[in-house]
Amino acid sequence: MKTIHFVTSNMGKAKEAKALCKEFDIKIQQIRYEYPELQSDDLETIAKYGAECASRALNKTVIVEDAGLFIPALRGFPGPYSAYVFKTIGNKGILGLMSDKKNREAYFKSAVGYCEPGEDSITFTGVANGRIAREIRGEHGFGYDPIFLYDDRTFGELSTEEKNKVSHRCKALKKFVKWISAKDI
Ligand code: IMP
Repeated sequence: MKTIHFVTSNMGKAKEAKALCKEFDIKIQQIRYEYPELQSDDLETIAKYGAECASRALNKTVIVEDAGLFIPALRGFPGPYSAYVFKTIGNKGILGLMSDKKNREAYFKSAVGYCEPGEDSITFTGVANGRIAREIRGEHGFGYDPIFLYDDRTFGELSTEEKNKVSHRCKALKKFVKWISAKDI
């Protein structure tokens, strides 16, 4: 079984990646290391830079992942600022900003960056479309999961396995897994 080092301090992300990659015979080993996060509007640029910094600092082949929630009615907010916005106003704050909005569409985007020491990184992306719920629902997942409606349930109401069938992260990771599996042949 191949081992991939996933540099993240987010236990929720690591749990999802472990469950997904196990299906493809890849073991995910989490490394908790805080790599510098580039200020950019583009998740792929952030993941690319993060993967290169982490790979150089740890002298290992790594993946990192950057994700964000994008809400068209708020002109894409919180987008690349999702982590800061979650820490400051949180899910209640987003529901407050959305209280008078008719258009409740939203999407999550994930960018996975892969980097070997001394090389340029490669990125893989995935998107999950949904809507912003009217209230916080569900005990599973993390971050914005309890306010992100996929069909009639929030991501917070889905098990890891259920979320892994449709999420932005699983789509990006599946592209990566397909690519890395072919690379080894
Ligand atoms: P980052 O990718 O760690 O920078 O995450 C940005 C923000 O989006 C954090 O507040 C995360 O909790 C949140 N986030 C990232 N991925 C997800 C997800 O799959 N579900 C819910 N929130 C997420």
